[in-house]
Amino acid sequence: MKKKILFVCLGNICRSPAAEAVFLKVLTANGFEDNYFVDSAGTGGWHVGQSADSRMQLAAKQRGIVISSFARQIKIDDLLTFDLILTMDNDNLNAVNQLSKQLDKEPLALIKPLLNYSQNSELLEVPDPYYGGEQGFEKVLDLLEDACNGLFEEINS
Ligand code: 4NP
Repeated sequence: MKKKILFVCLGNICRSPAAEAVFLKVLTANGFEDNYFVDSAGTGGWHVGQSADSRMQLAAKQRGIVISSFARQIKIDDLLTFDLILTMDNDNLNAVNQLSKQLDKEPLALIKPLLNYSQNSELLEVPDPYYGGEQGFEKVLDLLEDACNGLFEEINS
């Protein structure tokens, strides 16, 4: 059975769709893409149905990463269907943990910050790039590539 991983941020148009695409690239590069179902979602619903922010798409494309998902909001059922839910920052982590408290049973999902898997960074949160300049998107991608490599190694070793 495929292992199901959900990446979560606030709007699901910058960080988590990029994380989804970066991790898919890592899986594909290693021939593991059929072993996983990867998705992303936002804790907020303002951008539901939208493709990823064009600045994020451009920065990713320059690294050979294609972001093709459309935004959706996390739903309580995700906690029962995904094995691993990886959040970008502490607000997302708290929001997912709050959602989990609404369940009348234990979630299936293990809920963790993605940057727990970083190999070359001490940062614990992926900074929100939405209101910043282009540099912010590069920084986000640096952090995501590092943590997704760490995640892949951790769960396949
Ligand atoms: P994301 O970035 O959580 O990485 O998708 C944001 C996107 C939109 C907003 C905030 C953060 N917003 O306030 O609309």
